[in-house]
Amino acid sequence: MTRSNPIVAIYPGSFDPLTRGHEDIARRTLRVADRLIVAVAHTSTTQKRGLFSVEERVELIRKVFEDEDRIEVESFEGLLVDFARGRGAHFVIRGLRAISDFEYELQMAQMNQELWREIETIFLVPDVEFSFLSSSLVREVAALGGDVSRFVSPAVLEAMKERFGG
Ligand code: COA
Repeated sequence: MTRSNPIVAIYPGSFDPLTRGHEDIARRTLRVADRLIVAVAHTSTTQKRGLFSVEERVELIRKVFEDEDRIEVESFEGLLVDFARGRGAHFVIRGLRAISDFEYELQMAQMNQELWREIETIFLVPDVEFSFLSSSLVREVAALGGDVSRFVSPAVLEAMKERFGG
């Protein structure tokens, strides 16, 4: 898509690490947006133990999308809506893997709307082959010596092997 006022989407998350499911959602977004900013949050609504630092996650995600110049990767602190406004984003992208994601996603989308009326959230559905994936499951399987090569990109796999000494 090429237009004078490009449509910019933001895909926020903790991405610790980015999985193939996240990657699928990011690439699908380019069917409905001209540019995508993958935004790694310093503050996640569900506090989690970190495997990679935010800076490491940003670097890894940049490597995964180095073939796609319409995807940028940044981290942000504070509220997502403030970051989105500052970047001139038109909407937030979130993935819906299963019905169990819906309630939490609806709450976040509505809270974001309360905080900034202009923001829209668009939900995309990942390929069914990724619908069971989550970063914490991938972390756990890798930490216990399991093979996660089907679930993450080679750059992420390499970094996980180094982290877990595999
Ligand atoms: N493929 C694989 N996994 C996926 C996925 C997909 N397509 N979509 C979601 N997930 C998983 C993630 O891996 C993550 O798994 P984990 O819990 O095992 O780590 C889980 O689903 C949800 O994580 P994520 O999508 O990263 O969301 P989050 O809950 O960590 O982060 C933010 C939510 C960052 C968007 C939210 O906290 C935020 O906006 N923070 C900024 C502060 C703010 O504005 N707060 C008010 C929000 S209303």
